[in-house]
Amino acid sequence: MKQELGVCYYPEHWPEENWAKDAADMTATGIRWVRIGEFAWSRMEAVPGQMTLEWLDRAIEVLGAAGLKVVLGTPTATPPRWMIDNHPDMLAVDENGAPRKFGSRRHYCFSHQGYRQECARITQIVAERYGKNPHVAAWQTDNEYGCHDTTISYSESAKVAFQNWCKARYGSVEALNEAWGNVFWSMEYAAFDQIDLPNLTVTDPNPAHVLAFRRFSSDQVVAFNKVQADILKAHTDAPLIHNYMGRILEFDHFDVGEDLDIASWDSYPIGFLSDRLEATDEHKARFLRQGDPDFQAFHHDLYRAVGKGRWWVMEQQPGPVNWAPYNPAPLPGMVALWALEAFAHGAEVVSYFRWRQAPFAQEQMHAGLQAPDGVDAPGMDQARAVAGVLDMLKEQDTQQADVALVFDYASDWAWKTQPQGAGFDYFRLVFSAYRGLRRAGLSVDIVSAACREFSGYKAVFAPGLATLDPALVLAISEADALAVVGPRTGAITEEFSIPAKGRPGVPSLDVRVDLIESLPPQAGMDVSGGGKVEHWHERLSGEAEVLLKSQDGAPVLMGQNGRWYLGSFPDEALWDRVVSMACEQAGVAMSPMQDGVRRRRFGSYEFVVNYNSFSASVSGHRVPACGVLVFEGNTPVVACDLSSG
Ligand code: GAL
Repeated sequence: MKQELGVCYYPEHWPEENWAKDAADMTATGIRWVRIGEFAWSRMEAVPGQMTLEWLDRAIEVLGAAGLKVVLGTPTATPPRWMIDNHPDMLAVDENGAPRKFGSRRHYCFSHQGYRQECARITQIVAERYGKNPHVAAWQTDNEYGCHDTTISYSESAKVAFQNWCKARYGSVEALNEAWGNVFWSMEYAAFDQIDLPNLTVTDPNPAHVLAFRRFSSDQVVAFNKVQADILKAHTDAPLIHNYMGRILEFDHFDVGEDLDIASWDSYPIGFLSDRLEATDEHKARFLRQGDPDFQAFHHDLYRAVGKGRWWVMEQQPGPVNWAPYNPAPLPGMVALWALEAFAHGAEVVSYFRWRQAPFAQEQMHAGLQAPDGVDAPGMDQARAVAGVLDMLKEQDTQQADVALVFDYASDWAWKTQPQGAGFDYFRLVFSAYRGLRRAGLSVDIVSAACREFSGYKAVFAPGLATLDPALVLAISEADALAVVGPRTGAITEEFSIPAKGRPGVPSLDVRVDLIESLPPQAGMDVSGGGKVEHWHERLSGEAEVLLKSQDGAPVLMGQNGRWYLGSFPDEALWDRVVSMACEQAGVAMSPMQDGVRRRRFGSYEFVVNYNSFSASVSGHRVPACGVLVFEGNTPVVACDLSSG
């Protein structure tokens, strides 16, 4: 697979006479792709119905003539001001019933049919105009669905659409009452149009109602995206992309991905470390200017799955961002390391955000590869270094890993709806498993809970799956892989009630969950032989073998017939034990890693990245601080060392 660098560019922000030089400078830097257009609606159509696209024609021509491949965004994340005059009720409404007003971006409700038609109209116009343009080599729909908490809207349009969605799902209101358990607290409905959205209730709304609303909200994103995807497909053969984000879970990305060719995401490692991650103060201080050593990798692996193998980083942090509580600068080397790490996970393109820092508006404090005056910012040399490394590497393809980790958006919706313990969070749980696998030096594939094809895997981990489809466990076993499920796996039905037959309900595994308790942070339970249970503990019984137990004798991990059930939320040390026991059982070779150092297999290469501010040693070879060493077999073939700045 060919792997290339890209950049995000906003021609509408800069004088036209500068475009050609910018384009030439991009290619000289080693950049091959440029994404444009995704926020430019007010310049494409300043007055409703009067298209002004000639500037965009010229921008595409100038960039293309310089040898750049253009990713063209549909501009629907930023409806212009006149749109609100034409559709005053199109704004999303927050949980408190307040409209989310014009003046930034993403100010629309996914359920508003009028806005959806406007999006179809503008998509049709740009698709007809540029669908066969030789410079437009990929398309992006909208930008960052769900960003700024915009998936869920409590608008009138959402209410009506939700009632229709319920009608289609349940068929009759009696069936809905039955499914949700509405006899409880006299919540029964007599007609679908009585069903309101689950906000502003006196105390908790029915979790079944909330989960249904969250499923609906996710489906609305999928439907919204599909309108654009269908139009684009009719006019272009270029691949279609959506640009997702880090730890945004409100809609099912796998479902959106079904209608697209490539998944991309926005990787801002330093911003994420401070505002999107549970970690100790010590960890956050140690990686303040580097980002968490597993957070990016997790999303690379996740989006590889969402993109059915094809994925990019559409926006790569180039220097300090503007949106986290504190915005430190990356250590020298990190802007290159992040990109190379993405390539190691199989990214086709890593695209820096943005070419030049904007001197105006919300993101004027957000670095680019150039400062606002056009002088190179510190990130530029690192982008150049990445282009140099890419030139030295042979083309490779991602190969299947030994271990798969199941990820399921609906489980996050379920556990957000009824956490039962403040420390229990689905992403946190799955990510803690992922970290454990990476500490063991393993490459990991993330797969969706709908996956039924596991051949080639030796072990599959599926923590926290709210609803367990026994077919999933059977498929894992048929592939001869060890299945490690739990905690909290199979704890509810799809309609948010406790399964009638007891749980976890893993076929051919005689384990029963007798009692559940959640634990406050200071009340972890020690496990015999090392490690602790945190946040969540299930009392297990049954005939399966007890593989791990707490110091007072309670089973923590039980197994039988290649199926293991983990009843607790492990701390790091306990995950390390579970991972190493599973690897031993499944015949997976581990190579435990030093803190901050990670490895990833990629074709015939193995990339070792060092997130530490000091050098590390791997197999007797020095890996520079914030640097990358690429091995082929046991021999380092390429090094990226920019630590001297
Ligand atoms: C992304 C977004 C970009 C820009 C960037 C700043 O989330 O797609 O438009 O806002 O963040 O870091």
